[in-house]
Amino acid sequence: MTTTYSVELGNRSYRIFFTHNDCKELKANLKQSFSSNLRYAIIMDQVIEDTLENNFSGLDFLPHPPAVKITLKAGEQSKSISGLEKIYHELVNNGIDRSGAIVAIGGGVIGDLAGYAAASYMRGIGLYQIPTTLLAMVDSSIGGKTGINLPTGKNLVGAFYQPKAVFIHSSFLQTLPQNEFNAGMAEIIKYGLLADTNLFSQLQMIGKLSSKHKDLPNIIRTCCKIKASIVRKDEKETDSSGGRALLNLGHTFAHAIEAASGYNQYLHGEAVAVGLVLAGKLSLRLDYLSQKDLDAIIKLIKEYDLPISLRNPLPIATLIDAMRRDKKILHGKFNFIVLERIGKAIIIDNINDHWINDLWLEAGATVN
Ligand SMILES: NC(=O)c1ccc[n+]([C@@H]2O[C@H](COP(=O)([O-])OP(=O)(O)OC[C@H]3O[C@@H](n4cnc5c(N)ncnc54)[C@H](O)[C@@H]3O)[C@@H](O)[C@H]2O)c1
Repeated sequence: MTTTYSVELGNRSYRIFFTHNDCKELKANLKQSFSSNLRYAIIMDQVIEDTLENNFSGLDFLPHPPAVKITLKAGEQSKSISGLEKIYHELVNNGIDRSGAIVAIGGGVIGDLAGYAAASYMRGIGLYQIPTTLLAMVDSSIGGKTGINLPTGKNLVGAFYQPKAVFIHSSFLQTLPQNEFNAGMAEIIKYGLLADTNLFSQLQMIGKLSSKHKDLPNIIRTCCKIKASIVRKDEKETDSSGGRALLNLGHTFAHAIEAASGYNQYLHGEAVAVGLVLAGKLSLRLDYLSQKDLDAIIKLIKEYDLPISLRNPLPIATLIDAMRRDKKILHGKFNFIVLERIGKAIIIDNINDHWINDLWLEAGATVN
C-alpha cells in the first residue's frame, strides 16, 4: 500500500510516496507523477545499477524509458566538478531541455550531485528523488539541499533546490551493506534525540532494527515527517534560534572528524554517531541530560556497531581547525546543537572552548 506525506513549501511543495514489497506500486506512483512525454535522465552509480539489475528487475519500475541513463562511479569522489561536468554533457547530448527532468536513483552522493545538476542545468529542470540508502531515505532526499564537494572541502558548492517528488521504496534496502544500513541508523537515532521521545523509546524497545523489520517503513516515515516539518518552517536554515540547524545535531563534531581523517575513514553516519555522543556529553556537562540519558544514547548507538569515540587518534588542533571552517560557524562563533532533554534539541553559542577540548581528548584526540 502506498502512503504519502506532503512537504508543504508553498509553490515548491511536493509529496513523498512510501512503498515497500514489490515495485508495482512504485511504478504506479511514478506514472502518476510523470507526464507520458516527459524526457528525463536517470542518474545513478555503478553499484546501484548492478544491484537493481541483479535483484530488482532493473529499471522496470520506470513508467517509460529514460532519454539517457547516466552512470557514475560509486563513492564520494563522484560528487565533484568532474561528475557534474559528465552529467551536463550527457544532458546536452541527449536533448534534455528546460521541460526535461533528472531522476536520481541512489544514496546521498547521487541525490546531492543529481540535485545540483538539476538546479543548475538550464537554470533549473525537474528533479525526482528515488533514494536507495537508509541515509538518503530519511535525510538527504528530502529538504532540497543539493551540492558537490570541492578539493578544499565537502558540500562547498550547492543550492537549495526542492525535488518535484520523492519515492521511498524501502525494499531497496534489502541489498544495502550492513555498515551502510548502520550509518543510516545514526541519522534515525538523531531524529529521536532532537525531536521525538517516542521514536527514541521505540528504537530502545526494538533493540536492533534491520532492513526486514516490520517497523522500519513506519520509522522511515516518522523521520521524513520530522525533517519535513522542520524544513517547512526554515527552508534555507536562516532561523538563528534553531530551526533547520537543529537537524545538525552532532554534525559539527562529525564534519570535523570526516575532514580531519581525510574523508575516507568514516562513513558519514559513523562520524555522526561519534558526534551524537559528544553532543550528549556536552548536554550532560550543561546539566541538561543525566548520566542515565547519556548511557541510553550510547547503548543505542552501540547496537548498530557504530563508533562512540575516534577509531584512531586525530590531532586536536586539526579537529578544532576543521570545526572553524564548518558552514555552521556564524560570525566566528561556534554554534552547538545540544539536547535540553531526549527529544528536544536547542542551539547554544556560549560554550567554553575548554569543554570542547576536553570532549575531543576524551574521544581519543591527541594534543599534537
Ligand atoms: N542533502 C542532504 O540533506 C544530505 C544529508 C545527509 C547526507 N548527505 C550526503 O549524502 C552522502 C552520503 O550518502 P549515502 O550514505 O547514501 O552514501 P552513498 O550515496 O555513497 O551510498 C553508499 C553506498 O551504497 C551503495 N548503495 C546505494 N543503495 C544501495 C542499495 N539499495 N543496495 C546496495 N548498495 C547500495 C552506493 O552505490 C554506495 O556505494 C554524503 O555525500 C553526504 O554529504 C546529504
